[in-house]
Amino acid sequence: VEAHLRILHAVAEAVGRTLDVEEVIRTALEALTRVTGHEIASLHLVGPDGATLHLRGDRGLSPALREVNRTLPVGEGLIGRVARTGRTLSFPNVSGSRRVFRPAQAAVRRDRIRGFVCVAIQCRGRILGTLSLGRRTRRPFTEREVTLLEATAGQIGIALDNARLYSETVRAQQQLVHAEKLSAVGELASGVAHEINNPLTTILGHAHLLAEHAETTKRVRERIAMMAEEASRAARIVQSLLLFARRHPAERRPCSLADLVQRTLELKDYQLVRDGIRIVTEFEPCPLVQADENQLQQVLLNLVQNAHQAMAGHGGPRVLTLRVRRSGTNAVVEIADTGPGIAPEIMPRLFDPFFTTKPPGEGSGLGLSVSYGIVTEHRGKLWAENRPGGGAVFTVELPGEGERA
Ligand SMILES: Nc1ncnc2c1ncn2[C@@H]1O[C@H](COP(=O)(O)OP(=O)(O)OP(=O)(O)O)[C@@H](O)[C@H]1O
Ligand SMILES: [Mg+2]
Repeated sequence: VEAHLRILHAVAEAVGRTLDVEEVIRTALEALTRVTGHEIASLHLVGPDGATLHLRGDRGLSPALREVNRTLPVGEGLIGRVARTGRTLSFPNVSGSRRVFRPAQAAVRRDRIRGFVCVAIQCRGRILGTLSLGRRTRRPFTEREVTLLEATAGQIGIALDNARLYSETVRAQQQLVHAEKLSAVGELASGVAHEINNPLTTILGHAHLLAEHAETTKRVRERIAMMAEEASRAARIVQSLLLFARRHPAERRPCSLADLVQRTLELKDYQLVRDGIRIVTEFEPCPLVQADENQLQQVLLNLVQNAHQAMAGHGGPRVLTLRVRRSGTNAVVEIADTGPGIAPEIMPRLFDPFFTTKPPGEGSGLGLSVSYGIVTEHRGKLWAENRPGGGAVFTVELPGEGERA
């Protein structure tokens, strides 16, 4: 009993000390495997898709057993079943049992695992993952040991929930910082943009006149075309800047995110398919949003364009997934790609105006900051994450039409 209390205490202490999920998992597994010295422990967490369990830590698993346990389907096998039902499973001997996840059966037998117990990690009614113990001795797990495992899982559940709340707070703070940076840049931009637009119009006008002139030779005409092309590019940048700096909300009416996604794909379909990108759409029920369609369309175009560029320069299968769904009373659209994802060191600067990793001519670094400005103006949120399996996902969340300010 005293040993058990020590374990619980160690885990509780780690939970209180840190918001680092990895550290809590490490401490818990270390403490648990010291129960008798025979145990094998593993911890799985449910992935964002809700359908897969990912191995996040283990003690004493053989390489073969670790490999088959790396990802498990929710609902199948012993661990998968606990992740579905939340109910503890305990067996005196799992070697040779048909209820073990099929691909794992051989490894379990080879490692002579006998006693096995698996409990769910839950918090506030949600199943977040599983905690499993196995042992090679004939001695089955006692009721007390199972209770200990359940208590430890409860502590881990709280730790995970704390870490999630914490990272959400950090994200909210980062959004505030972005918003401040953007409004300062916006003010500057709108002033400068007008000053730049006039000379650009003059340059473009004269370039056209010169190009049309009868005495202009072919070589000179080519140079003039180059000048005009560059001046137009500058004009486009100024235009995005103005749009992003626009102070007043544009015209808003109820619109459907699914329709906007369709329209965006119509515009980009040809280029995407040409570059071998498969397009997947998932339309779930979703409230309408009160928005300026053209602005939202621009946001989606920017995000699809980024996903396209990220995948075009990257090997492996190319899949663009656009998902529309509801979240409470909010409407959500996710743009997910199978590109290289976003390096952690550039994450904090992603939405900064003029931040780009693309060569000149390909990117101006305005797409995301403009999009961010538009979404914020609509009282929504825009954020980026890396997907567990690789690639990036950008999420736009907007208040549903029923929600008034
Ligand atoms: N889907 C993505 N995958 C990986 N990196 C991305 C993705 N989307 C954006 N980024 C990174 O964020 C940077 C900023 O994106 P942003 O759209 O603001 O500018 P840009 O695409 O470089 O230029 P512009 O959009 O003005 O043509 C990109 O240069 C790229 O490094
Ligand atoms: Mg872009």
